[in-house]
This record gives sequence, C-alpha cells and structure tokens, in this order.
Amino acid sequence: MNKKSVYVGMSADLVHPGHMNILKEAAKLGDVTVGLLTDEAIASYKRLPYMQYEQRKLVIENIKGVVSVIAQNTLDYRPNLEKLKPDIVVHGDDWKDGVQKQTRDQVVETLAQWGGGLVEIAYTQGISSTQLNEAVKDLGTTPSIRLGMLRRLLQAKPLISVNEVHHGLSGLITEKTVASRNGKNVEFDAMWSSSLTDSTAKGKPDIEAVDMTSRMTSVNDIFEVTTKPMIFDGDTGGKIEHFAFTVRSLERLGVSAVVIEDKVGLKKNSLFGTEVDQTQDSIENFQNKLRAGKAAQVTDDFMIISRIESLILEAGMEDALARAKAYIEAGTDAIMIHSRQKDPAEIFEFCEKYGNFQSRVPLMVVPTSFNEITEAEWQDRGVSIVCYANHMLRSSYPAMLKVAQLILENGRSLECDDLCLSIKEILELIPGTK
Ligand code: SPV
Ligand code: MG
Repeated sequence: MNKKSVYVGMSADLVHPGHMNILKEAAKLGDVTVGLLTDEAIASYKRLPYMQYEQRKLVIENIKGVVSVIAQNTLDYRPNLEKLKPDIVVHGDDWKDGVQKQTRDQVVETLAQWGGGLVEIAYTQGISSTQLNEAVKDLGTTPSIRLGMLRRLLQAKPLISVNEVHHGLSGLITEKTVASRNGKNVEFDAMWSSSLTDSTAKGKPDIEAVDMTSRMTSVNDIFEVTTKPMIFDGDTGGKIEHFAFTVRSLERLGVSAVVIEDKVGLKKNSLFGTEVDQTQDSIENFQNKLRAGKAAQVTDDFMIISRIESLILEAGMEDALARAKAYIEAGTDAIMIHSRQKDPAEIFEFCEKYGNFQSRVPLMVVPTSFNEITEAEWQDRGVSIVCYANHMLRSSYPAMLKVAQLILENGRSLECDDLCLSIKEILELIPGTK
C-alpha cells in the first residue's frame, strides 16, 4: 500500500523537543512534507525569526522522517494544501484558539474536500518557543544580526514602522510595547535615533551641535537594552570626508541605516521650512557624498537613505523627483521624502509620481504634521517605512513640566501623584532592579 502523505506547517526558528515530537508522530503516519513558513509568512503575524529561511530549511530537511521541505508563503495553509492534497495534516493541539484558530478552521474545511484529516499532537509541556524567545532576548543580539535586520524586514513586510528613541527607557518602550490593532498584535519594527530629540533631550538645539561621539554614546545606551534595528538620523552627513568615517562607526555599532539630508551649511530643523536660512546641496555634491558613504561601508547590509528637502525648502515637485532619480543612480538604498505641510497632498503627489519610476528603492516618510494618514494608507501609496520621529520625547516633556509646576505651586509632591508612576511600579519596571 502506498504510504500516506502528511503535511506539517512550521516556522522552526528555535527548534525544540516540541517540534521533534510533532515530526516524529507525523512520520509514523506517512511521508512528511514540511511547509516551512517564509519570513514573509511569519512577519505577517509575529516578529521576524532569528534564522533566515535557508538556515531554517537546512535544519528541518536534516531531521529524521522529513521527506521534503517546501516554502509556505502565507500563514494560510490553503494554497499549499490545495496543491499537494495531503491525506493528513499534523499540528500541535495549541492552535484551537487565539491567532491561529481561523487558520485551523480553514485547514479542516479544505482537507474535507478530498477526505483528508487533521491529527493534533498533544502540546509538549515545559518548553515553548515563547520561553526560548524570552531567553534569547535576555541574551541580547550581536551588531551584525541587528544590522542585517532592517533589510530582512523590508523584504518580509510591506510596511515597517519605526519609533523615535532618545535614551534607554524610550528604547525599552519601543522594544517591548505590544498593542492590538484589528485583532492582531502589533509592535514597532525598528527605532529612529532622531537628531531633534537626541539634541533636545540634552537641552541643545538641533543644529548638529551634539557631536557624533555624543550621538553614538546615546545609540550605545539604547543598544545595551534593546534588540531591534535602528535607523540613525545623520543630519547632513557633514563633510564628504567625514561621512565615510561616520558610516563605519555606525556599522561597527550595529546600526542598520543612516539617513542624510541634502542640505549644506549650518543645519536647521526641517520643520522650520523657509522660516530660517537653509541651503540645499547641489545634486552632484550630494551624489558624491552618497558614493563616498557607499564605498566606505564594510557590510552589504548597511543602508544609506537619502532625504530630499525640496518640498521643505519649496524648491518644487520636479526638483524633488529629479533628485530622487539622481540619488538612486548614485546608489542610495532608500529615499526619504519630507514635508512639513499639514495637508499630505504634496507627499501623495510625490508617492504617485515616484511609483512610475523604472528604478525604485524603498520609500520612507515622516508623518509628523500630516499625521492623520494611517499606515495602511501609506502602504497603499507605495511607502515602505513610516517613522514616528519625535513622539517619545514630545510626550514626556509636558508630563515632566506639569509635575515640576505642581511641586513648586504646592510646596510638596502630593498633588502630582496621579501623574507619576508609583514607587512600586518604578521599582519593578526594569528587570534586575531588585
Ligand atoms: C529628526 O527627528 O531629527 C528629523 C525629522 O530629522 S524632522 O524633525 O521632522 O526634521
Ligand atoms: Mg533630524
């Protein structure tokens, strides 16, 4: 009698005895094909796996009883099931409720079409990927793994969200905060080291007065307590000769990308627009800066993102588009288009025209003023990176100011109790405080 065909879907990132048990039981039932979830499939419902697809595939195809490994491109099993029409699907019994319930129902329904069946294996107690994940997070990451994470995310997700950080605590919030959106758990993908908030947190103006050494000390503090990738705001990048060194220093720390803006001279924050003197760089000079940066980087993964200031400086849409083309030609890895208008019309126009380019790189936006636009809408307009550039700092300042005022007004701190974390909470906030 022909052996039955058995299908097992798995991510197989942190492989543990639970996986082995499922594969062992599946092999008793017939020839096992593992549908290995791709990075894209995994990123559609949880964080990226530590190991890339090819690495995970190598592990799984060498496990006893596994006959073949194929890619499962979606969390949804149906495309692969319809192709293979397996007799049996094997899965752990831990997906009857929660995020995977719908997937399970679809599997049962699909198998019924050709009389296939679902076999569920009792969950292996005492070990789980979630526990291993926590343990790996405690161990931290390495500069090279963190550095490569941004490119992997861009490949695996249609849109990545980036939150501003300016010290360890805002880093931890960005690392750990999880919220539910339309029934799905969501978290930030990456961090933004903002020149505006790093400077402001130090009580200094955003004019490149906080030097690179100090900026990198901030990054280092943040990296000590986080694992997510970082995009670094490199302001103008400084002199071409200096930018090459900045690229190498950032890479050494494990930063994934630097954004440089096409301005020269004393840099002022873009949100001032034409209220202050700001000069845009020539296309040629900025291309040279990009080329010098690209030539200086040691890894293939590091990204140099070009920030176009034409809309900020009212140089016009045509100028913005011409610059985008020229910067892509010079080798930029992504484009950031900035605007300070409340009305998103000019950014939308840019996105639309950019969409018609023959050669494109990922597009990044910083919706600080035009903030009613949702990530889903940005994605529809072809944007890949959305950056919340200053919100951690802007939200903490009013709270601190209010508390300082209340203490002064009352000559005691009782009145500000409701605005503060309790002592118990702050003592428990950071693991290891006790
Ligand atoms: C920053 O966050 O420092 C930026 C973005 O450069 S913006 O302030 O909008 O110019
Ligand atoms: Mg800045």
